[in-house]
Amino acid sequence: MELSGARTLVVGATGVLGGALTEALRDQGATLALAGRTDPSGTGGEPTFTVDALDLERCAAVVDEAADALGGLDLVLVAIGVAGFGEESENDVVTEHLLTVNTQAPMAIGRAALAHLTDSGGTLAMISAILADVPTPGMAAYSASKAALSAWLTATRGGVRKQGVRVLDVRPPHIETGLADRAVAGTVPSGIRAGSDVATLVGQVLEALRSDRRTVTFDLRSGEYALG
Ligand SMILES: NC(=O)c1ccc[n+]([C@@H]2O[C@H](COP(=O)([O-])OP(=O)(O)OC[C@H]3O[C@@H](n4cnc5c(N)ncnc54)[C@H](OP(=O)(O)O)[C@@H]3O)[C@@H](O)[C@H]2O)c1
Repeated sequence: MELSGARTLVVGATGVLGGALTEALRDQGATLALAGRTDPSGTGGEPTFTVDALDLERCAAVVDEAADALGGLDLVLVAIGVAGFGEESENDVVTEHLLTVNTQAPMAIGRAALAHLTDSGGTLAMISAILADVPTPGMAAYSASKAALSAWLTATRGGVRKQGVRVLDVRPPHIETGLADRAVAGTVPSGIRAGSDVATLVGQVLEALRSDRRTVTFDLRSGEYALG
């Protein structure tokens, strides 16, 4: 897709990866609307919205509001998420939180987005995680939430391809963004090290968007990204 002029909603623009992707898309000339749990700081009159991922109706509504503000949508990028680790995450309350924020909220945003992206032949892009490919001990519930999102993206992609809509699933490895320190429960298991950095991931996502790819994956053995 052409990023310059692309009418783009970033949900999770207040986060580290969402913020870095927002800046990169702005640099590429995308026309932005930004959403976050707290009001994101837009520049130059960019419309901004608040959304709590625990409110699934609001997740859908924010997409329609952004489409109204931009006159349609060519790209919807979802970068919201929370982590949970260890035994502290293996209970119903934390699991519900992880599944709501990491799975159901992106799905609600995605369903609302598809209505607009079908009109424009646009792209739905979301950050799931390498955990979808490599479910990891000490992160069972977190892995399950990301694997479920990734499965939804795969199935959705096949269903909307004929309508000209592309679906990109970004599955990064651990990146030092502070996400682990903001975990809803528990602490990151020892031995988990950063496999990449923010700038490299951003470069891969932009390239994947430009070249209409389906996936951004990471090989832990080679330490390399691959675009699928
Ligand atoms: N960093 C990594 O190692 C890594 C690896 C693989 C995948 N990912 C995924 O990448 C995405 C971004 O992560 P990040 O590293 O950039 O972490 P981050 O800086 O903590 O960003 C997380 C984003 O999710 C938002 N969020 C969390 N709970 C929310 C809620 N209830 N309602 C609305 N928004 C909510 C945060 O909003 P606030 O700013 O308002 O809290 C923030 O915008 C996540 O889906 C994460 O799982 C990260």
